[in-house]
This record gives sequence, C-alpha cells and structure tokens, in this order.
Amino acid sequence: MRLIVGMTGASGVVLAVELLRRLKEIESVETHLIITEGAELTIRDETDFDTFEIRRLADYVYDVNQMDASIASGSFLVDGMVVVPCTMKTLAGIASGYCENLLLRAADVCLKENRKLLLVPREMPFSRIHLRNMKELADCGAIIMPPVMTFYHTPANLDAQINHIVNKILRLFNLPEDMREWRGVESK
Ligand SMILES: Cc1cc2nc3c(=O)[nH]c(=O)nc-3n(C[C@H](O)[C@H](O)[C@H](O)COP(=O)(O)O)c2cc1C
Repeated sequence: MRLIVGMTGASGVVLAVELLRRLKEIESVETHLIITEGAELTIRDETDFDTFEIRRLADYVYDVNQMDASIASGSFLVDGMVVVPCTMKTLAGIASGYCENLLLRAADVCLKENRKLLLVPREMPFSRIHLRNMKELADCGAIIMPPVMTFYHTPANLDAQINHIVNKILRLFNLPEDMREWRGVESK
C-alpha cells in the first residue's frame, strides 16, 4: 500500500508523528511525506522533535514546493492520502482546487482520481467558512475527521487520546490497529 501523509501547520503535529511511527511498523505500507512550512513552525513550537527525525519515519519525503514529484501526478498510483493535522488554510486550498504547493496538488489528485482522502482538520471553534469548506470536501468524497476527544475508552492521559485518533485513521485505511471497540451496554 502507498500512502501520502501531509503535515500542515495546525496544532497537533504530534498526531502525524505518531501515525508515521505506526505506519513504519507496517511492512506493507510505503509512506510519502510532505511537511509544509507551517508544520515546520508547529513542530518547533509544540514538540521536541526536529524535522529530520520526523522525515526519517517516512519512506519518501518531498519538499512542499517540489511540483514535479511523483505524487503530483495521477499516473503514480497511491491508495490514499491523509492530511494530519489539517489547517483551515490547506482545507480552503483543497476545497477550491488551488494547487499552490505539492501537498495541495497531491490532495487534488486524490480527489480527481477518486482515491481516499482523509482530512484531520484542527481549529476551534469552526467558522462558517471552515464548515462550508468541510461540507464541500465531504460532498467531493473526502473523509472529514476532526481530532475530537473520545471518552468511551476511558483514556488515562493525552497519549491515550492520541493513540485513539491514530487508530481511527488506521482503521479508515483498513490497516492493523488496536482500537477498543464499544460493545454496547449490557441490558439489565
Ligand atoms: C503554533 C501555531 C499553531 C497553529 N494552529 C493552527 C490550528 O490549529 N489550525 C489552523 O488552521 N491554523 C493554525 N495555525 C496557523 C497556520 O499554521 C497558518 O495558517 C499557516 O499559514 C498554514 O499553512 P499550511 O496549511 O501550509 O501549513 C497555527 C500556527 C501556529 C504558529
């Protein structure tokens, strides 16, 4: 399986790092990574990672301005793309088909080729513009999965929340994960 991972400059870049770590453990997955300049800033501001460390987690890494990269073309077969975390700027770019950088182009290609595109938009609260862009993209076949907190698995800490969101992404790509299922409440 070939998967494109796009990291943009929204809060929560650690989600992408954890996803890349998990994908690295799955032998059958080949990862193609794009990190925007915005993401470089949030990596610096929110984490102790340097981008070199993160790049090493992927099989292929592209400069965000490398418009002649393989993943810019529909002829290069990929199984899908996840943008995590996804800024409102990148969301707007994808929703309007404005392929100003490689990440936007790769997402645009996924939509035009009818390939899976999973967006993890992060902002709070969402404006009408954000919601409109999300609706537009959902109508075009993208999966919109904001990283909302989940409580049914009684998370002990932030790592458990992160793990749950990453599991959910893996599950949406039919990849191995260890997400706890909700089995319903026993009736009395
Ligand atoms: C520390 C930090 C946190 C940010 N968090 C968010 C966020 O959660 N959501 C968002 O849409 N933009 C956020 N931004 C703003 C984006 O990084 C900015 O709009 C940037 O131009 C996005 O570019 P990109 O989509 O190409 O990465 C944040 C910026 C910084 C510096």
